[in-house]
Amino acid sequence: MRIARAVEQQVQDMLGKPGSRQRARLKKPVWIIAFVAFVSLFVLAVFVYTAQRSGSCSMFSSRGCSTNQILINTPSSRSRPLTDDEIASHVVIREILHMPHAEPKNPKIAFMFLTPGSLPYELLWEKFFEGHEGSFTVYVHASRERPHHVSRYFMNRDIHSGEVEWGKISMVEAERRLLANALQDQDNMQFVLLSDSCVPLHAFEYVYNYLIFTNVSFIDCFEDPGPHGMGRYSDHMLPEVDVKDFRKGSQWFSMKRQHAIIVMADNLYYTKFKLYCKPGMEGNKNCYSDEHYLPTLFHMMDPGGMANWSVTHADWSEEKWHPKAFRAQDISYELLKNITSIDESLHITSDEKRVVMIRPCLWNGLRRPCFLFARKFLPDALGNMINLFNNYTRI
Ligand SMILES: *[C@@H]1O[C@H](CO)[C@@H](O)[C@H](O)[C@H]1NC(C)=O
Ligand SMILES: *[C@@H]1O[C@H](CO)[C@@H](O)[C@H](O)[C@H]1NC(C)=O
Ligand SMILES: *[C@@H]1O[C@H](CO)[C@@H](O)[C@H](O)[C@H]1NC(C)=O
Ligand SMILES: *[C@@H]1O[C@H](CO)[C@@H](O)[C@H](O)[C@H]1NC(C)=O
Repeated sequence: MRIARAVEQQVQDMLGKPGSRQRARLKKPVWIIAFVAFVSLFVLAVFVYTAQRSGSCSMFSSRGCSTNQILINTPSSRSRPLTDDEIASHVVIREILHMPHAEPKNPKIAFMFLTPGSLPYELLWEKFFEGHEGSFTVYVHASRERPHHVSRYFMNRDIHSGEVEWGKISMVEAERRLLANALQDQDNMQFVLLSDSCVPLHAFEYVYNYLIFTNVSFIDCFEDPGPHGMGRYSDHMLPEVDVKDFRKGSQWFSMKRQHAIIVMADNLYYTKFKLYCKPGMEGNKNCYSDEHYLPTLFHMMDPGGMANWSVTHADWSEEKWHPKAFRAQDISYELLKNITSIDESLHITSDEKRVVMIRPCLWNGLRRPCFLFARKFLPDALGNMINLFNNYTRI
């Protein structure tokens, strides 16, 4: 980067800063100006070329920073030597990211349901899955009671589960359990986490193509300097997790296979969050691992590999502790069309400035609707959703 900056300086000098040199040049013949412009262009091209070659975070590179560079350049590692555990962890993660992956003949999507008990929307999901056998697998983690299944797609799909307490590390443990089970199927390429109040927003083919033909994970991630973001950070996470790297995001992810393997392989960062990101930390800090662990881990390890938004919509417009819950009387074709037409992601910081960050949802570089699923839909809305399914999923 130092070389790049030096060249940039030269370019700026040659293009002419305001001052006496420029005024002098203007008096000279036109061919000198043309020559200077030509040389400037050449130097600029060399600058772009070297910046890309060195894998730096060039402003001209659409890819952003290359992975190699990030591992060497994480803010926390720049000023200190890495610990033995960090070196071990970084080589494993880098290796996984660079592993050539064999494309299965029949790539599938793993639909992983995290629920306390029965799933009220099984019959809607059945309409969604119908006719696509062989392109998906279902996994159910029921933490409180054995679910009563009403759809054939959900029968015998319960995995061994454990207790889940809201906001605690047991939530992340359950997510890891689902990933571990779903990874056993070599054909699963994207792993979607869903809840008992989630509904599909599109027909199966649409969701399948959206998730199979993307090479990023849809993990929600943003920087929140406020009390519900960095305010939850504890210095106990040092040195491995610096407050500068602490990120926030909704837990409802869809991640690619490589990233699911990284979650399995990570013990170092997981343990940090398990010990130091929990409700009642240091007396009054309520840190919720399920909202911080994955965004922070992937922000540090593979920022270019995630979309930074979740494909599961939630309506936070009421600005309450939980998103708006939709009841039977709220369900209409217009509501669903409104949700499926959203094509920009929205994040709001929790400090008093309440900075609103709006970004277009770019799918392989194209602007497209952000959401494939939505929550929270209350059980009484099932009938209305089934009646409307064929309508609202028509493109
Ligand atoms: C994803 O694929 C696009 C197009 O092939 C490519 O430009 C981009 O670098 C890839 N991103 C990652 C994280 O592999
Ligand atoms: C996601 O955010 C990170 C910064 O945390 C950025 O480097 C990356 O390019 C973003 N991903 C996309 C697809 O824009
Ligand atoms: C749908 O969006 C329009 C335009 O923003 C809004 O006026 C309308 O109230 C919305 N309808 C529902 C049912 O959310
Ligand atoms: C649903 O589709 C049917 C058949 O195409 C159509 O007649 C009806 O108006 C649609 N309903 C809504 C709410 O769009």
